[in-house]
Amino acid sequence: MRRKIVAGNWKMNGSKDLAQALVSDVRSQAASLDNGVEVVIIPPAIYVGDVVASAGDSLSVGVQNVGQWASGAYTGEIAADMALDQGCQYALVGHSERRQLFGETDDVVAEKVERIIAAGLQAVVCVGETLEEREAGKAEAVVASQVRAGLAKVAEGQWQRVIVAYEPVWAIGTGKTATAKDAQAMHGSIRQVLSEMGAPANEISLLYGGSVKADNAAALFAEPDIDGGLIGGASLIAEDFVSICRSVP
Ligand code: G3H
Repeated sequence: MRRKIVAGNWKMNGSKDLAQALVSDVRSQAASLDNGVEVVIIPPAIYVGDVVASAGDSLSVGVQNVGQWASGAYTGEIAADMALDQGCQYALVGHSERRQLFGETDDVVAEKVERIIAAGLQAVVCVGETLEEREAGKAEAVVASQVRAGLAKVAEGQWQRVIVAYEPVWAIGTGKTATAKDAQAMHGSIRQVLSEMGAPANEISLLYGGSVKADNAAALFAEPDIDGGLIGGASLIAEDFVSICRSVP
């Protein structure tokens, strides 16, 4: 059985007050979920301690990024070990905003995945094509290449620490969502690539992200290869986020 996961990526939003209020709200509403979904909160790193303190045992916590190094003179960076030390269970890596705005290459993604796994965290590895790539008919090839390169350093026996999030770049924060059929097709293709890499593909959770909202989540999550979601904007409103969590079958 694959784990069902809904993760809320707050990106560079929020405040100390919001972190406390939102998490306590999500926590109390999530208590009534009976679908076995694992709910993950991924705030800006500076609020991780506040979120961990409010999360209790029912919510998991993650960071949006880690450095590709163990420690040292890397001003502004945080290490995977530090995220674990603060009580995190997850780390995002390769989000399209990191790739596009901060020059995160596939090679850097692979190094970060290695660090995240070595620290004992779960790596949520984000992949996705641009609109231009989709229109050129290259979406599957681009995503396959990101999966192969980003996961190149995962050793046998470490795959249970890997989650892949498919986020078409054109759907992030735009209100445009991939149709459930198109998202399912890409998830099926990712699972095939994982299988070709020698991974236990049927045991790896694949999340969809990109303008997932309370009113479109159920159709996406009903697809056989979509095991949950990576949620941006809608994760900042407790009621919407919990409604998305509730949409997992
Ligand atoms: O990490 C989350 C994704 O980038 C999706 O963001 O739900 O605001 O489109 P969004």
